[in-house]
Amino acid sequence: MTTVIKNGTIVTADLTYKADVAIDGGKIVEIGPDLKGDETLDATGCYVMPGGIDPHTHLEMPFMGTYSSDDFESGTRAALSGGTTMVVDFALPAPGQGLLDALQMWDNKSTRAHCDYSFHMAITWWEEQVFNEMETVVRDRGITTFKHFMAYKGALMVNDDEMYASFKRCAELGAIPLVHAENGDVVAELQRKLMEEGNTGPEAHAYSRPPEVEGEATNRAIMIADMAGVPLYVVHTSCEESHEAIRRARMLGKRVWGEPLIQHLTLDESEYFDKDWDHAARRVMSPPFRNQRHQDSLWAGLQSGSLSVVATDHCAFTTDQKRYGVGDFTKIPNGTGGLEDRLPMLWTYGVGTGRLTPNEFVAVTSTNIAKILNCYPKKGAVLVGADADLVVWDPEKEKTIAAANQQSAIDYNVFEGKHVKGLPRFTLTRGRVAVHDGEVRGEEGHGQFVKRDPNGAVNRALSSWKELTAPRPVERTGIPASGV
Ligand code: URP
Ligand code: ZN
Ligand code: ZN
Ligand code: ZN
Repeated sequence: MTTVIKNGTIVTADLTYKADVAIDGGKIVEIGPDLKGDETLDATGCYVMPGGIDPHTHLEMPFMGTYSSDDFESGTRAALSGGTTMVVDFALPAPGQGLLDALQMWDNKSTRAHCDYSFHMAITWWEEQVFNEMETVVRDRGITTFKHFMAYKGALMVNDDEMYASFKRCAELGAIPLVHAENGDVVAELQRKLMEEGNTGPEAHAYSRPPEVEGEATNRAIMIADMAGVPLYVVHTSCEESHEAIRRARMLGKRVWGEPLIQHLTLDESEYFDKDWDHAARRVMSPPFRNQRHQDSLWAGLQSGSLSVVATDHCAFTTDQKRYGVGDFTKIPNGTGGLEDRLPMLWTYGVGTGRLTPNEFVAVTSTNIAKILNCYPKKGAVLVGADADLVVWDPEKEKTIAAANQQSAIDYNVFEGKHVKGLPRFTLTRGRVAVHDGEVRGEEGHGQFVKRDPNGAVNRALSSWKELTAPRPVERTGIPASGV
């Protein structure tokens, strides 16, 4: 059966043009004028874009004594509802647990996914077993990205020696390290001091993680990656200090990418000063929301290209879960949701204000990350042969975001009350219509795992350069006799 998306305007990262799109067997089979098929989707007045890719989610993640409340079922349903057709989740071994063992757990959870997905593997400890299993993870499982937490001391955090060893292993395997960049030692000390001084509320979460801890860690990770000869992807870049380090590195030719979140772009630190404890605690995440100076910096980074990807870090906890931290802000589970709202919020506050062009919107929500993750043009493209992961985007469709009608399993939404203009008319996951005029018609288990090859273009280029510029002994014409 052929499905044709008719009368729309195709918007990709580099082109805008009118054409129909024909889909068969889950793939785009033809692009052109006046196409015919068995089923027609009317895209009059709409943009036909690659579906969103969210490279940063934590679905059903064991964290801070509980599990995040959106699993692969509700999480990917929320994704599709908002025009996102692929998520990349973090497989997280407990310290001491093998990587392959952890992967088995993530394989089991992800069978319920409504849309395609991939994994990053987290390095939460460092021993020979981890070193060895990294190869199997890359070569056999097609997982080519490894996350390192520089914060969460005593839990997930790795130290510089472990990070350097792991980054070097990534370089050998043609993989890419990711970092959660915050100085975990300083954060732990600030948390202790704040608690001792009676600062126990959610606002202290923000006080304990100032921009400096992020800027320092980002710069350190960049330098360590450079010495290890590997590209680096910095997740949830939230502040000017971190962006500055990324910008500087990129200007020096280092291969570094920064990923602001839609939350940091559109919500600020005043949320933590709300008189309602629940309101503030629901917004506790790391890094915390920042002030206008940082938000302006992140938007400028997307405009100038120094920041590459907008993600969500979707890690949803219910109000009851947040209340584990009443009386001690360090026990509030860290994380916020956003999967369903990322595209409409970025369109409204980015394209709607003139800060982003529609093509830039596609680049930062889909195409750039597909290239970084080496799954382009299977994903992130409107091209013949690409997977038909598409969103038919109606720029006139509006709504006010409300937890009452969201797909996410939690009982609130950090964007509650925000009015968005620009929403999916249809979302297609490998050709299957999963959203039809606001109605979500998911199919549990439809999602497939996306295997990725190591040694993408940037890894190859960087390793050539590092090879060419590696230290070498000088070949001398004469060596004097030893003075001894
Ligand atoms: O607060 C956050 N970001 N929670 C999820 C885990 C992480 O640090 O990415
Ligand atoms: Zn993180
Ligand atoms: Zn995260
Ligand atoms: Zn299916």
